[in-house]
Amino acid sequence: MHERDKELAALAALDEVRPGMVVGLGTGSTAAHVIRHLGERVRGGLAVTAVATSHASEAMARAAGITLRDFADLSDVDLAIDGADEIDDGLRCIKGAGGAMLREKIVATAARRMVVVADGSKRVAALGRAPVPVEVLPFALAFARARLEALGARVTLRMAVATPYRTDQGNPVLDCAFPALPDPAAIAAIPGVLGHGLFLTEVDAAWIATDGTVTRLERQG
Ligand code: A5P
Repeated sequence: MHERDKELAALAALDEVRPGMVVGLGTGSTAAHVIRHLGERVRGGLAVTAVATSHASEAMARAAGITLRDFADLSDVDLAIDGADEIDDGLRCIKGAGGAMLREKIVATAARRMVVVADGSKRVAALGRAPVPVEVLPFALAFARARLEALGARVTLRMAVATPYRTDQGNPVLDCAFPALPDPAAIAAIPGVLGHGLFLTEVDAAWIATDGTVTRLERQG
């Protein structure tokens, strides 16, 4: 059921894509539906290009026949479409269960419009059920961990089976459970922190599907 809802949210968001756009492609199972269906539309003649927020999404997009741009050459994109681990009514999100939050944050910030696609299980009354993932420079791992604990977080080093998980940039991730929503600026200010999964202001709209019904939430003001 969740899978069909993810696909319905993806299809609704794709109706925002216009010819000529540069589209930011998110990461995760919901973004995978976006990539697959965008590929179908491209093969049907829709002229768009895209940037990917992870190696996995890049491979998926390539296989789907979508022309990819190197984001290093771009200062902005037209529309970013990405999943989320949690989203509240104010369009504040926690992202990064898939470890791509650093590139996702960059592309979301570069996007003229950023839309989240999600099934209804991601919608929460208050953020905080999921930990906030924090990508850290390996050199600063213990230092950053201590500083995050000093901010009140219960910190877990993300593992990939028996070894520490590494992002596409080769960095470890600290999953931080905070007792209350932390100040993202305080996390970002820790030297050695490269990115985090709190998206409090970046999201302009969300397409959320619950039991087959798609709802659009739009940022007010
Ligand atoms: C990737 O790092 C994440 O930010 C994803 O956007 C998020 O985890 C949502 O993934 P699913 O669509 O697979 O739930």
